[in-house]
Amino acid sequence: MSGHGEAQPMTARKSGPLSGTAAVPGDKSISHRALIFGAMAVGETRITGLLEGQDVLDTAKAMRAFGAEVTQHGPGQWSVHGVGVGGFREPADVIDCGNSGTGVRLIMGTMATTAMTATFTGDASLRKRPMGRVTDPLSLFGTQAYGRHGGRLPMTVVGAANPVPVRYALPVASAQVKSAVLLAGLNAPGETVVIEREPTRDHSERMLLGFGAELHVEKGTEGHVITLKGRPELRPQSVAVPRDPSSAAFPVCAALIVEGSDILVPGVSQNLTRNGLYITLVEMGAEIEFQNPREEGGEPVANLRVRFSDRMQGIEVPPERAPSMIDEYPILSVVASFAHGKTVMRGVKELRVKESDRIDAMARGLEACGIRVEEDEDTLIVHGMGPGGMPGGATAATHLDHRIAMSFLVAGMAAQKPVSVDDASPILTSFPIFEGLMQRLGATLERD
Ligand code: S3P
Repeated sequence: MSGHGEAQPMTARKSGPLSGTAAVPGDKSISHRALIFGAMAVGETRITGLLEGQDVLDTAKAMRAFGAEVTQHGPGQWSVHGVGVGGFREPADVIDCGNSGTGVRLIMGTMATTAMTATFTGDASLRKRPMGRVTDPLSLFGTQAYGRHGGRLPMTVVGAANPVPVRYALPVASAQVKSAVLLAGLNAPGETVVIEREPTRDHSERMLLGFGAELHVEKGTEGHVITLKGRPELRPQSVAVPRDPSSAAFPVCAALIVEGSDILVPGVSQNLTRNGLYITLVEMGAEIEFQNPREEGGEPVANLRVRFSDRMQGIEVPPERAPSMIDEYPILSVVASFAHGKTVMRGVKELRVKESDRIDAMARGLEACGIRVEEDEDTLIVHGMGPGGMPGGATAATHLDHRIAMSFLVAGMAAQKPVSVDDASPILTSFPIFEGLMQRLGATLERD
């Protein structure tokens, strides 16, 4: 897998028009959580539409190591026999979360208030990412963590034997930190409170309610105040995972920039904490129809009809929208390269601590493709060259980052000259069917 196996270079050439239906896989955030909450419920949780990307498979393996029975019954169809809140057993070996920040941070929270010791590691990308944002609040429960310099993995976490509940105001807008604290709060007595100034994805809150926890959210002047009552008995659920709006972003954006395209992307989650990219694209002048809006698996979804859009204008993306589209800035910066005028993305410094430093990775790659880019610590500005305007003819470094790899491959589908990536293997972490799905739509993607 990424970081362990051979690099897989890939090239995208001017393609299209793209047409047909792009059925993207299940949502990554919800897939991780379905396995984790399932492992903390008493009895059998059934999951359909689970994303079988490497990140989620690593979480499934970790849940087995903590004592849950996790079984695959068919494509996307899984069951988890949970051990109950506080019922985890100490893993016999190191937990390797691969490339997944969500996996490692949520699992640390899950074991943090149970008396046991676990050691976590990951690939070269994950070992560079900060864990202090999670271990700091976990220490308030009584949890101890011993990692490398700067709170990096590998890290050993010693769960609190007598945890106390916590009141914690998030210093960064992070659903992973919020979720880690809530998961730890499940096995603490009394009420754990998390306060978030800016709303981040709310899948943990929705699923905790679904699994029978007592949780309420108050919207006040300090933001969202989330209160969770500790030590519930979680009831097993049937979880239908909706399609991932962050994965849908790639075929959607490809269709917007590849001349003549007209595609349908069915059943994409339109959860308000996840749909910032789609709002932004519409503001830019993208032709996207949101058809048949409905509820599926407790999430609002719609079918997206997307057509090539030659009149997109660069815009200033409101910084407060960042949490609802945090994973979509790489692909938005590709679309911005094919729009008229400049697109200004401020308030995006969190991008520097994702699977790669995404501001740097996008800026360097787009410059190599002939696009003018400006950046500072918290900002990315892309000067668009209009439809078909990107010269291309470059190879982008993907730094073990799936979204950087897919973004540059989409760029190559509309650029004048081919665009290559040095390693497409990280795509398997979140969108294992990307290559075939894009080829069936009419994209020219070649392995080098
Ligand atoms: C995620 C939260 C986000 C996002 C990540 C998935 C989650 O990270 O970037 O891909 O499932 O909670 P942060 O919590 O660091 O913003």
